[in-house]
Amino acid sequence: MSNPSLVLETDKLLLFQQELGEWDNLNHLIICKSSSQACIIDPFDGQYWYDFCQKQGVTLTDIWLTHTHWDHIKGVSELFSILGNSLNLRCHNLEQERGYQSNHATWWDHDEFSVTKETFGALEFSIYCTPGHTPGHVTVIGNGLVITGDCLFLGSCGRTDLFGGDPEQQRKSVIYLKEILQSLTGNYVVLPGHRYELSDGSKPTYSQLGDFLQVNQAINTAHDKSLWDQLPFLAFDDNMAEQARRQRAKQS
Ligand SMILES: [Fe+2]
Repeated sequence: MSNPSLVLETDKLLLFQQELGEWDNLNHLIICKSSSQACIIDPFDGQYWYDFCQKQGVTLTDIWLTHTHWDHIKGVSELFSILGNSLNLRCHNLEQERGYQSNHATWWDHDEFSVTKETFGALEFSIYCTPGHTPGHVTVIGNGLVITGDCLFLGSCGRTDLFGGDPEQQRKSVIYLKEILQSLTGNYVVLPGHRYELSDGSKPTYSQLGDFLQVNQAINTAHDKSLWDQLPFLAFDDNMAEQARRQRAKQS
């Protein structure tokens, strides 16, 4: 398999990105230059990222999860079996509402639509709780990076019809993030959890923040509920939606 792409290098960090798996998942590895520590966000393949960190001569110390759908956590158990309990796993506790459990996790427990700080090495990031795709989805912002998971894709946003999803929460999250993103100063690169096609037919894996704010359909629609309700990507008629209906029926 190919090496990940270096998307951003600053005086403090390196950001590597790789598409993995058959669902177009985008994984992101942040390396702190001063401490030679690394944090993987939403690992699909644990061995792949362990091997890459070895090659780079850095220590993988942290796993942060934007949310706990299987395609964002598939590599977690493999990394724990390789690296043991020295790893820090961070995830929002509201993900337990959709049935996620972990003996390894140190839970973020801040309120929905609020922020907490998280660090690894010498780097500090803001962790925004942005529910809607899942109950405890988070968006990671800082040091020139906006890591959106499945809350926002480059041209759209994550579906809300899976178990634990909620379209109105998602709309609130998009409005909340829009304000935060518009207030950022300096250069930021937006890194989504999947590589999906934009309306012009292109399929980029990241985008500059200014371009993103202009083209993202969810961001530009969220203020108007009637337009929002017509968005074609909030729900799909597929097996996963059917499974979510069954899970909701079991719970009620
Ligand atoms: Fe997801």
